[in-house]
Amino acid sequence: MGRFYITTPIYYVNDAPHVGHAYCTVNADSLARWHRLVGDETKFLTGTDEHGQKVADAAAKNEMSPQAWTDQTSARFREAWDALGISYDDFIRTTEPRHYESVQKFLSTIHDNGYIYKDTYKGLYCVSCEDYFTIESSVDGRCPIHGRALIEMEEENWFFKLSAFEDRLISYYEEHPGFVTPETKRNEALSFIKGGLRDISITRTSISWGVPVPWDANHVFYVWYDALINYLTGIGYGRNDEEVVRWWPSSHHLIGKEIIRFHCVWWPAMCMAAGLEPPSHVQVHGWLLVGGQKLSKTMAAEGAVRLTDISPVVLTSEYGVDPIRYYLLRETSLGNDGEFSLEGITQRYNTDLANNLGNLVARVTTIVATKCDGIGPVPRSDSSLRPLAEEALVNAAGAWERFSPQSALEATWGLIGATNAYLEQHAPWKMEPGDALQGVIGDALEAIRLVAVLASPAMPEVCREIWRRIGLSGSPDAELFESSAVWGRYRGSTSIVRGAPLFPRIASDQ
Ligand code: MSP
Repeated sequence: MGRFYITTPIYYVNDAPHVGHAYCTVNADSLARWHRLVGDETKFLTGTDEHGQKVADAAAKNEMSPQAWTDQTSARFREAWDALGISYDDFIRTTEPRHYESVQKFLSTIHDNGYIYKDTYKGLYCVSCEDYFTIESSVDGRCPIHGRALIEMEEENWFFKLSAFEDRLISYYEEHPGFVTPETKRNEALSFIKGGLRDISITRTSISWGVPVPWDANHVFYVWYDALINYLTGIGYGRNDEEVVRWWPSSHHLIGKEIIRFHCVWWPAMCMAAGLEPPSHVQVHGWLLVGGQKLSKTMAAEGAVRLTDISPVVLTSEYGVDPIRYYLLRETSLGNDGEFSLEGITQRYNTDLANNLGNLVARVTTIVATKCDGIGPVPRSDSSLRPLAEEALVNAAGAWERFSPQSALEATWGLIGATNAYLEQHAPWKMEPGDALQGVIGDALEAIRLVAVLASPAMPEVCREIWRRIGLSGSPDAELFESSAVWGRYRGSTSIVRGAPLFPRIASDQ
């Protein structure tokens, strides 16, 4: 048993949460739940990124003060995560005093270490990215990501000597091959570093909506520079050093592919400059696309996609929490882009949930009610289902450990398929009550129990209900994986609950 500290990016509060944000948060949540299940001491941090030009502009547009606007929008993220059953341990807001304290401490240390200096900066700025571009990296003077016109800005700024870390970063990557996964993204980050690093401007005088620079009252920190430090604020940096020592070596950042440069180049260099080890791992994910386009708020505003149609809260109220969680985790492997569609949700729901899982539970509980006096029989130790269940346990556990919820669910659904095939083969609905029938049904109940354990990080509510239906008390995540994920632990002898369908089918034209 170890320790596991997982973070999501902190979300900009210029607009409401959408399903792209939910994708990242649900993945992080399932991983946190897996690690709790195996007994790791776990901390899961998410939150909101509340400074910067983009948020200040959104507040002005809505005729609100930045603070009132961020209070309101940050609350919408919490509401979305509550609707999705997100089990975060801490929710950080970058406007909190604890964050100011950590940022000022961290950056004063880098300043004292000699990695910060003053200079004049001139460049092309994209407010949506909160980032500068060179004319070469722009597309005809427009942002390559958002397509909006870049603004020419000139400021006297404080700079971070990123260029001083080129060699150290390359060595770090070589010594820590698993620092960034998947490997394609690691190579992308590494080739960016090898291409040469320029110092970065880390403060602003053009806006006041930011964390004040402790050594220069006219400046606030640039939003990205303050935001990255949230990962340390969450474990008490500058306030409780013991906590930092405890959690930092087990840190895992889950991030989208467009913010690789910040997390895989700037952030490890910033940590080195402050005398800290870089985070232990960055897992990069792709984008959910609608009709081939990223669900970006800017594009939505331009009418390319209607994000209001795909708010996480609306989705969960239409399809249920766990079906949406399942869809987000199962449809796309972490690292690749995936297509999001309502048709896709319906298809996954009807096939994997209603036909495979729901039907399995319904069949077995019905036979127990009609042919076993409502009491669950015990599994057999020599069942032909056992090796298949054991293989699924090994494969799913391995996939969860490798940050691959999609493969973990694939292995789990393999066991569901095998159990349905086992029932087809033995046709217990045609058998007379007796030992043979009891054996087949006991085996199926045991397989269902193991499925509930394996799927619990993805679908906690449904798995709890399955647990109850097969006559068990507590929940599949209340016991450690090591002791529950063993064939033969189902003891039978308790009353089975024959409930309403777990997943009533959805008409496919919905
Ligand atoms: N505030 C910064 C992150 C700072 S972390 C120190 C930011 N915020 S964001 O709200 O724009 O994006 C947050 C995360 O949401 C990113 O990882 C991004 O990839 C993810 N997603 C936003 N739209 C997405 C999709 N359409 N699909 C999947 N994830 C996407 O960047």
